[in-house]
Amino acid sequence: MFAPSVYASRRARLRQLVSSGLILFPGNPEASMNYPANTYHYRQDSNFLYYFGLDHPDLAGVIDLDNGKDIIFGNDVDIDDIIWMGPQPSMNERAAKVGVDHTEPLSQLEPYIREALAKGRKVHIVKPYRYLVLVWLESLLGVHHSQVKDFISEELILGIVAMRSIKEEIEIRELEKAIGVAYIMHTTAMRMARPGTVEQEIAGAIEGIALSHGGPVSFPVILSVDGQTLHNHYHGNILTEGRMMVVDAGCETPLHYASDITRTVPVGGKFNPRQKDIYQIVLDANMAAIQATRPGIYNKKVHLLAAKTIVNGLKDIDLMKGDTDEAVAAGAHALFFPHGLGHMLGLDVHDMEGLGEKFVGYNDTIERSNQFGLAFLRMARKHEPGFVVTIEPGIYFIPALIDMWRKEGKNEAFINYDKVGTYKDFGGIRIEDDILVTPEGCRVLGKPIPKTITDIENLMSK
Ligand code: GLY
Ligand code: MN
Repeated sequence: MFAPSVYASRRARLRQLVSSGLILFPGNPEASMNYPANTYHYRQDSNFLYYFGLDHPDLAGVIDLDNGKDIIFGNDVDIDDIIWMGPQPSMNERAAKVGVDHTEPLSQLEPYIREALAKGRKVHIVKPYRYLVLVWLESLLGVHHSQVKDFISEELILGIVAMRSIKEEIEIRELEKAIGVAYIMHTTAMRMARPGTVEQEIAGAIEGIALSHGGPVSFPVILSVDGQTLHNHYHGNILTEGRMMVVDAGCETPLHYASDITRTVPVGGKFNPRQKDIYQIVLDANMAAIQATRPGIYNKKVHLLAAKTIVNGLKDIDLMKGDTDEAVAAGAHALFFPHGLGHMLGLDVHDMEGLGEKFVGYNDTIERSNQFGLAFLRMARKHEPGFVVTIEPGIYFIPALIDMWRKEGKNEAFINYDKVGTYKDFGGIRIEDDILVTPEGCRVLGKPIPKTITDIENLMSK
C-alpha cells in the first residue's frame, strides 16, 4: 500500500468536500462461488481502497465530519483464523499503516451509526453494488433495503469523483506498472495467434501472466476471432488464416490499479489487403483521437473526431458515401462504430462507474445524447490534467445490425449496403490505449505495445 500520509490526506481533503454528518464506507465482504466457504478471488471495494487502503474483508471505514475522527471498524483475528490463515497483524497495526489511529470491533459499527441517526446527523453512503453490502447497510441503518437509497449522497459522490478523477503521481506509476504487464500479455497473445491454436489456450496464457505478476486480470479477458461481438468471452474457436483476433485485456497491480488495452492482429501474422484497409482506418482514428486529447476539449468532441476519421476512411474504400459531417451528425458511423471512444481508468477498469456514469463522464455542461452509438459514450466531459482515459475506437461488421439497418433503409444516403454486405464475414477491429491528460496535451501511458501494421507483422514474424 501507499504511505500512511497518502490515505490521511485523501480523507482530510474529502472532509472539505462534504458538509457534515459522517461518511460510511463499507468494505467488501467475501463473495461465495458455489458454497459459502468456496469464495471468488477477493476484491476490496475501490472507494475503501482509495481512502482506507486495507485489502481484506469485513471492514468498514467511517469519516466522522463533525468530530474529526477517522475510524476503522474490524475484528482482530482469533485462534481459529490463525489456524486457517496464519498469524495476522492486529487491527491497530493495520490501521496505523493507513494513518488511522482509532479502531473499533465490527460489532460497534451498528450502535455508532444508529446513535448518529438518533441525533439527527446525516449518514452519507454511495450506492451499493453487491447485495450482501445492501443487506448489511439495511441493518446498519435500520431501514428496509428499499430505503437504503435515501442515504446515497450526491455530495459525497461528487467529492469522490472530483478526487479520484485526478490521478496522483503515485497512481500514475501504478497504472504504468499495470500497462507493463499488459505489454507482456498482448505481445504473448500476438506470438501465439497461429492457425490451429484454440482461443482459450491464448486467453489462459495471458490470464496466467497477470496472475504471475501479482494481480488478477482487471476484467474477464475478451479474446475472439469473432471480434464483431464487442465483449466476446467465448474462447472456443480455433484460429484460422484470414481471420483477425481481437484481444481486449488488462491486469490489476497488487494495489489494484488497472490496465485496459486492446490489440487486433491477423491470425498467422500477415495482414491481407482487406484487413490492412480496415485496420489502418481504426489506427488513424485511434491516433487522431490521441492527438486531439488535451485539457479543455470535450471528450465527446474527441469521440466525434474518431467517428469522422472512420467515415472518411470508409468512404475511401466505398463502404460509406456522402458528406462526412452529415453522416456523423446522423449517426451513420454507428453501424460500424456502435460504442463510445472510452472511459476513465484507475482503481476500476471503468473508473468509478459504480458511483454512476453520469457523475463520472457527464456534468451540467454536457448532456448524454440518446442517439444510437453516441448514447453509449461513457465519458463526454471536458478533459483536465491528471485524467486517465482509454481511447478505443473500432470498426465492426455485425451481420444482424447490418441486416436490420438495411431492411429499415437506415442512413442509406451514407452507407453502400451492397458492398458492406460482402464484409459480413470480416469480424471486427478495436485498438485501445491508456492515456494521461497532461497540462500540455496527453501522453500514452506505458511501454508502447505494437500497433502499426509493420510493427505487428515484425513482432509476429519472430
Ligand atoms: N475493456 C472492456 C471495456 O472497456 O469495456
Ligand atoms: Mn476499455
